[in-house]
Order: sequence, then structure tokens, then C-alpha cells
Amino acid sequence: MADQAFDQDAWERRWAQVLRDHQDKVASRPPNPLLLREVGGLSPGRALDAGCGHGAEAIWLAAAGWHVIAVDFSASALEHGRTTVEALGDGLAGDIEWIEADLGAWTPPAAQFDLVSSLYVHVAGSVGAMVTRLGSGVAPGGTLLLAGHRPIVPETGEPSPAAGQQQVCVEDALAVLDADAWDIVVAEERPRAVAGSGVDAVVRAVRRPA
Ligand SMILES: C[S@@+](CC[C@H](N)C(=O)[O-])C[C@H]1O[C@@H](n2cnc3c(N)ncnc32)[C@H](O)[C@@H]1O
Repeated sequence: MADQAFDQDAWERRWAQVLRDHQDKVASRPPNPLLLREVGGLSPGRALDAGCGHGAEAIWLAAAGWHVIAVDFSASALEHGRTTVEALGDGLAGDIEWIEADLGAWTPPAAQFDLVSSLYVHVAGSVGAMVTRLGSGVAPGGTLLLAGHRPIVPETGEPSPAAGQQQVCVEDALAVLDADAWDIVVAEERPRAVAGSGVDAVVRAVRRPA
């Protein structure tokens, strides 16, 4: 899989096909349990879901009382999220803004969010630069939640079938989260549910009040 592309065209084609062939399955996919576990206890405020995909997490956050900015560079994924929340018809649609942008360059408005969450997004450039950009959006007292799939088999250190992808890893994230500015609450690798599919790097940090 090392030659698989994860750029905008590739993701847009992937989402267009998945939504064409498996729309019902995608629509019924629950939000990622990692998000629920890590931020389920926070008081709602303004949230950024960076790399929101088809929107299950953004919609869950909105239902929990957050006002959400949901960013992705796949127009098809964003459209699916938008129509899904509109179809729910319970007023949630107004709590989510869907923005098409490339997280390789897009920088959130500074210190605006009580939560910035970015789950399983492939990074084209430097992980540290993306973590820095996303972290800049977190308000004092706010939370930064990052998860990345690390494509190794934990027992052997060998590449898993997803090798060739670059996502957030603990070391690169911690390298740019200045200890004077951030309290690191979680920084660990967790085995994934499917054996042999690698590990999840999970980082949760809270920006110290200025
Ligand atoms: C593996 S999916 C994860 C989606 C969702 N966060 C989740 O946990 O189910 C990665 C998502 O990130 C988006 N993505 C990848 N690179 C991106 C970039 N540079 N800018 C914006 N979105 C990106 C893809 O379009 C895709 O929707």
C-alpha cells in the first residue's frame, strides 16, 4: 500500500465511491468511540473537527451541545455530513459549519476553540507543523485531541497492511506541544480492535490558561 495516494483527489474519489456504493452503511456508522471516551465529559463550547470525513463525530458533538466547525477537503464527504444532519431535522444543522479546506495549509482562527479534534487524518507534510497549526486554534483551557493510526504490528514492529500512511504520532506531537503551554493528559499508543492492524497514537492536551 506504500504507493497509495492520500491527497485530495484520492480522498474525493474514495469518498465518492464509498458513498455511491455504501451510503446506508456510512450513514449508520456510529461516532468514533475514542472521541466519546476522551471528550464525552467536557462541557460543550466551540469545537473544530479537523478531517471530519462523513461527519459522524461532528454530528455527535452538535447533539451534545457543541457548536462545530467541520473541516475536510472532500466535497463529497462534507455534502454527506451536511445532508445527514439536515435530514435529522431537529435543529442540529445550524450548529455545524462545513468547511472545505486542506489541512496541509489551513490554519484555524487563533485560540477560538474549546475543543480541536483531529482523528485519523493523513498528513502530507510535517506532523509537527500540522499539530502546531491545529493547536493554535485551541483557546486557553481548551482541549486538543489527536489520534493517528500507526501502521506497525505492535508485537513485532513490522509494517502493518496500512504502511505508507503518515498520521499523527505521539513523539512528533509532543515535540511541538510546549510543556509551558500545554498539560498533556494522554499520550500513548493503544492496540487497535483488529489484531495486526497497527496501533492508535492518542494525544489529549489542555492549553494552560494564559
Ligand atoms: C481516515 S478518514 C477519518 C475521518 C474521521 N475523522 C473519522 O475518524 O472517521 C480521514 C479524513 O481526513 C480527510 N483528510 C485527509 N487529509 C486531509 C487534508 N490535508 N485536509 C483536509 N482533510 C483531509 C479525508 O478526506 C478523510 O475524510
